[in-house]
Amino acid sequence: MDKLESKDFMNITDLLNNAPDKEPERQYYFIDEAAKLISKKEQELGRKLTCCVTTFGCQMNARDSEKLLGILKKIGYVESTDENADFVIYNTCTVRENANNKVYGRLGILHNYKKKNKGMMIALCGCMMQEPTVVENLQEHYKFVDLIFGTHNIYKFAELFVTSFLNKKGTIIDIWKDTDKIVENLPIERKYSFKSGVNIMFGCNNFCTYCIVPYVRGRERSRTPEDIVKEIKDLVADGVVEVMLLGQNVNSYGIGLEEKTSFAKLLEMINDIEGLKRIRFMTPHPKDLSDELIDAMARLDKVCNHMHLPLQSGSTEILKKMNRRYTKEDYLVLVDKLRARIPDIAITTDIIVGFPGETEEDFLETIDVVEKVKYDSAFTFIYSKRTGTPAATMPNQVDDATVKDRFDRLLKLVQNNGHDKVRQFEGTVQEVLVEEVNEQDETLVTGKMTNNITVHFPGDKSLIGQIVKVKLNCCRGFYYIGEVIS
Ligand code: 5AD
Ligand code: SF4
Repeated sequence: MDKLESKDFMNITDLLNNAPDKEPERQYYFIDEAAKLISKKEQELGRKLTCCVTTFGCQMNARDSEKLLGILKKIGYVESTDENADFVIYNTCTVRENANNKVYGRLGILHNYKKKNKGMMIALCGCMMQEPTVVENLQEHYKFVDLIFGTHNIYKFAELFVTSFLNKKGTIIDIWKDTDKIVENLPIERKYSFKSGVNIMFGCNNFCTYCIVPYVRGRERSRTPEDIVKEIKDLVADGVVEVMLLGQNVNSYGIGLEEKTSFAKLLEMINDIEGLKRIRFMTPHPKDLSDELIDAMARLDKVCNHMHLPLQSGSTEILKKMNRRYTKEDYLVLVDKLRARIPDIAITTDIIVGFPGETEEDFLETIDVVEKVKYDSAFTFIYSKRTGTPAATMPNQVDDATVKDRFDRLLKLVQNNGHDKVRQFEGTVQEVLVEEVNEQDETLVTGKMTNNITVHFPGDKSLIGQIVKVKLNCCRGFYYIGEVIS
């Protein structure tokens, strides 16, 4: 089946000429036009069309995928988890090299599906598409891809979809270098009924020397507190009890807004929203974690007892080369402050092993911080060279065997610490937000404590979205088995 014969419809030039200039009205116009096209195609095929949105990478991407799915559902697609679908979109990540490799590998499989379903459309978006070399490679070797767009124009998805749908040959490519635009009020299809990510800002201005994010996500820009609070109120009215506030560096929230504000003030406003039960956020940067924020976390009852505070390295020398703008000692002082103000706070982190020039002594500094802080858990990463970042051309790149050895030693320590931290709650009663029926055992449900520890206990799906009191009977490594206390 070929793409739709469009003789009954306006051609793309007419459609573009007739479209409103203002957003989001323009996108709603394209959603309507797309719905007509899809309805016609359904009639031709005698069935509904399916779509599959696959997310790679972070929570920011997961939230973007909900926006993509929201539009696809409005257009008339039925969601499928099978990538052998009529419309497949990969929302990509490029933070580490293996994220890119995964996408190339899976594109081969999609190509085979497309050979059998000629009307299938394949789209790629997200961080990886912001890299010019990636797009060049796709243009040359992956000509079966229908649509490519980036991180800055995702709000334009409905328009790009229609353009691509009516396009007879070749790939539609629309990548912007940067943007200062934030378009509000587009459709969103949430994955969970009771919790949601909420973007509070986009982009990053920090330029840590290993990190590609500032190049692919552009400069920092904050949403207004009014828009954020309105979105959360609407979410709460729709059954959401927990929000995760998302930004690459939430501490710089508000800089650049006409009316100056701060992340702590935003937390305060959100804490006042009736019906909301829990507030989480990620990610703060240690260099500007203010006393005002620590104080707000301690005071505000809905802000969860959890701080994800990326360390990256414990060596002041390496931190300098990473352009992190704090020292080992600064970081340890912050942890002390946090624990002094919020004694039972869970602290988690990100650590990179094998940054260029990292010596055994530097690595032992990282081990020292991990031993001192005793993280509840930590994401450990092997340094991945990202072309275009300053670290990619730094001297003394560390050899693979040394990195692997350090990574294994670090992981062991992190896991042992994590077990000790988790175990301390054994026998206590804690509030748990029920998230889902347990995947392995359907007599159990799975939920999270305020400090993000996972708990499994007997229950059924009627509990999903509720906060219940659970006795933590038995610690099994990183999680608990418990029972509801009525
Ligand atoms: N190599 C390895 N890890 C990286 N991160 C970011 N860039 C790289 C890279 N080039 C890690 C950092 C960051 C997390 C989201 O990903 O630890 O906090
Ligand atoms: Fe990357 Fe650093 Fe920005 Fe985080 S703060 S996104 S690590 S540049």
